Amino acid sequence: MISLFKKRLPTDFFRGACDVHCHLLPGVDDGFPNSKKSIEALKLLEEHGIEQMTLTPHFMKEYADNDREYIQAVFQDFCEKAEKESRIKLHLAAEYMLDNRFMTHLEQGLLTLDKSGVHVLCETSYMMYERNVSSMLYEIMCKGYQPVIAHPERYEYASEKDYRHWKDKDYEFQLNLLSLAGVYGGSAFAKSHYMLREGMYDYVGSDMHSLENFKRYLPEIRMRSKSIDQLHRLFENNRNLLS
Ligand SMILES: [Fe+2]
Repeated sequence: MISLFKKRLPTDFFRGACDVHCHLLPGVDDGFPNSKKSIEALKLLEEHGIEQMTLTPHFMKEYADNDREYIQAVFQDFCEKAEKESRIKLHLAAEYMLDNRFMTHLEQGLLTLDKSGVHVLCETSYMMYERNVSSMLYEIMCKGYQPVIAHPERYEYASEKDYRHWKDKDYEFQLNLLSLAGVYGGSAFAKSHYMLREGMYDYVGSDMHSLENFKRYLPEIRMRSKSIDQLHRLFENNRNLLS
């Protein structure tokens, strides 16, 4: 049953918003397959009022070609096409899987969410916490970076105790917007609403892989006013990250 106290997001909610996690860079991962589709998405996002997007392609063993130099070249090429069609300001970062290729990326220097070169978006396996993840997070911090854990609500192995432990370690958390609509299942849905209410998130991203999910599920998000205020705070943090 839908609670009477829960509301849809207001229609002007995304006016001026900045997204810090999406897979719009075409043809480099399981996100958008070509420039045409990516530009179509940019146009729709612009209609929603979104002003800035940070493109965060996957850096993981499944996409072995994705290294800093290659991705920067693809980004440059895409920006030249996109700027003729959309006024959304584009930035480049990455979503780093903490797998056995990660240390090579770390040695080469990471693509960061902010201009100062500090905030690094990283993810782990959804199913299990591999033993070397803690040491990789430690290495990230030793190099002067700030880990931002992507969509913590989606990690099936993680309990509240794990989340509190990560916060104690000063890792930041990025919420996936559509977790609030139940796109990633009941557990991620419940965790995302709880962690948002508890003020545990720092940033919010669409993690958009296609336009279809965004259009279909965004209207299904329902929240209490207090949570909508929290979401506003996360978008404010996104903006500060990019300024
Ligand atoms: Fe992602």
